[in-house]
Amino acid sequence: MTEQKTYIDQHQEETDVNTSKNPHFNELLQTRLSRRQTVISGMSATAAMMLGSVSLAGCGNSDDTVVPVATPEPELKLGFSPVAKNMLDVVTVPAGYEVAVVYALGDPLDSTTAAWKNDGTETADSYQMRAGDHHDGMSFFGLGSTGKWDKKASSQGLLCLNHENISSGFLHPNGATTVDGKRPVEEALKEINCHGVSVVAIARQTTGAFTVDKSNTLNRRVTPNTVMEYHGPAAASRFLVTKYDAKAKKGRGTLNNCANGYTPWGTYLTCEENWAGYFKRDDDTLRAASDLASLKRYGVTSKTGANSWSTASDTDDRFTRWNTSILDAAKTADTDFRNEVNTFGWVVEIDPFTASAAPRKRTALGRFAHEGAVIAPVKVGKAVVFYMGDDSRGEYVYKFVSAKVWDEADATAGLTAGDKYMNDGKLYVAKFNADGTGKWLELTQGVNGLTTDNAVYPFTSQAAVVVHTRLAADSVGATKMDRPEWTAVSPKTGEVYLTLTNNSNRGTSSNPVDAANPRNYTDEDGNKGKGNPHGHIIRWKEAADDHTATTFTWDVYVFAAEEDAEKTKINVSGLTAGNDMSSPDGLWFDQRGLLWIQTDDGAYTDVTNCMMLAAVAGKVGDGGKTTIDTQDTFKGKNPTEENLRRFLVGPKECEITGVTMTPDNKSIFVNIQHPGENGSLAKMSSNWPDVANPTQVNANAAARPRSATIVIYRKDGKEIAV
Ligand code: FEO
Ligand code: CA
Ligand code: CA
Repeated sequence: MTEQKTYIDQHQEETDVNTSKNPHFNELLQTRLSRRQTVISGMSATAAMMLGSVSLAGCGNSDDTVVPVATPEPELKLGFSPVAKNMLDVVTVPAGYEVAVVYALGDPLDSTTAAWKNDGTETADSYQMRAGDHHDGMSFFGLGSTGKWDKKASSQGLLCLNHENISSGFLHPNGATTVDGKRPVEEALKEINCHGVSVVAIARQTTGAFTVDKSNTLNRRVTPNTVMEYHGPAAASRFLVTKYDAKAKKGRGTLNNCANGYTPWGTYLTCEENWAGYFKRDDDTLRAASDLASLKRYGVTSKTGANSWSTASDTDDRFTRWNTSILDAAKTADTDFRNEVNTFGWVVEIDPFTASAAPRKRTALGRFAHEGAVIAPVKVGKAVVFYMGDDSRGEYVYKFVSAKVWDEADATAGLTAGDKYMNDGKLYVAKFNADGTGKWLELTQGVNGLTTDNAVYPFTSQAAVVVHTRLAADSVGATKMDRPEWTAVSPKTGEVYLTLTNNSNRGTSSNPVDAANPRNYTDEDGNKGKGNPHGHIIRWKEAADDHTATTFTWDVYVFAAEEDAEKTKINVSGLTAGNDMSSPDGLWFDQRGLLWIQTDDGAYTDVTNCMMLAAVAGKVGDGGKTTIDTQDTFKGKNPTEENLRRFLVGPKECEITGVTMTPDNKSIFVNIQHPGENGSLAKMSSNWPDVANPTQVNANAAARPRSATIVIYRKDGKEIAV
């Protein structure tokens, strides 16, 4: 028996799959020069955007109509003391706040399943009704007394959360093993079942903590083995034909579910991120050239598959499906799993309130390393718009605009509304211009050169476009970004924020600096890094504040950095002890308009564990044009600790990810992912959540570290963070 690596690298930091020739610096410079001449009345884009919609509306107002003045809302202000950076094995929150664990790896979802035992003896099958591992994106849906969605309910709700990955070294009695080159069936199946999604009913206690309601029949796990339906352009296409369904209408499961989304019709969106590395593939000679181009572009290149699940049994297709090779060129796609990789990389819609409903893969939204899918506030009579990042170095930002316009009558229609707004529409990819403007490039078959004779890939149908979205985006000339993570839309300004977590490739010939990804520097302090090791948060304002617009203006809200870093190339946003950070990743606006920022970092972890900050962010154009090193860019007004402040620091070796709140803004839920990820059973580096902190759980120095959902609330019962 050989012990395997504790946990696989889901971020593919070392995989550089975007070798397309998309905009280089020179091209951006050219674009910038030519656009200079076309900006309204010679006004610079920044000046135009600083004047904003008020002046534009004024220009068009030829009559003397009196515009009613809205009552100003009370100013949003942060009202807590910043948490100091630290490396403790606890969750640290501001004075006056409490932390309680709600739902940790292995916790049962019904009363017949035994409690988690800290010895790895839980069966694979029992994980059908236990919390999976690596908690990630998450949404709270208020639960009314009739078991239906109640948007205002805060005392009980359904928490939907993703289980992105596993720390396999802690799941089994003796770590992950291989016997005679094969993974034991029970181990492989447990690892598979620890992925996916949980729907868990929770109830608020008098203390402010929340506990799982094990009696609720809506509690369920969705795993990589759950039957799912395909909807949209790729459904029933040749690309999704597998041994499992020759008609390509159904498939199994969801995988590496990272960030999330939630719809105005009461459903949960879970997004498939780094699925590519799970597959074994070694069949180059039997593939068509177009297939090879796609497999390479999506990083399906492993000779073993990250967890070697395909070795578990030669006869059981729950395992053989993870081998995506063509095993016999004479056979057809409905006899093997050559297309199984095409069944992942989607946004998946789940109705939390109908436990029997199969999740639906919404293929119109494209296939890539989907980070999340965030919907702009809907307006009656306007299309529904989704923003989505593709998280890998040098990948792109996308949006999807529904063909149908929003009708308030669909507000409780569940998956039927999903069919209406998510199966038909236009997919776009972003191009960030050097002059502070941007453009959405349409990814529709027959448009922008996405035709059968396209040199990158033969786009014979919209199914071909959505299955090979990255190739379509390469072809139209999208901008390569510093790993697009979560998107968030401000409910107050409508502006869209996007975390660009880091990019060790920035500054190389394939990813030269550009206006939207302007920093290339070396972090020489403690845990080092190159390119853009700390990341930044970009934001944009759609033209005329219309989310369906095809043009926008952008600037960088904040450049992440260590507080003591050099200030002309690295800490250019002037971050200080109470708000410095590295590798922003999770991002979410609460309904009040507070921005929550979470980190998944490796460059500042010699000083602090990962963290969450709260912000009252400004607006695109509140700063101005600047130059970093020799690269011109647009930077927002520098944040201060008044409007950007650290709210939480996590336990050792964790990532902070996933955030949602109750509608009364009094409970905030956060996920702690992979605490102690660098340890092993022989030498654990964290015992969280079983640590010596009376407000968390009991201390146990022999406890295996576990990913978990926590709730944070105020001792005085008031709203969070203000
Ligand atoms: Fe799963 Fe991009 O974080
Ligand atoms: Ca560092
Ligand atoms: Ca993430």
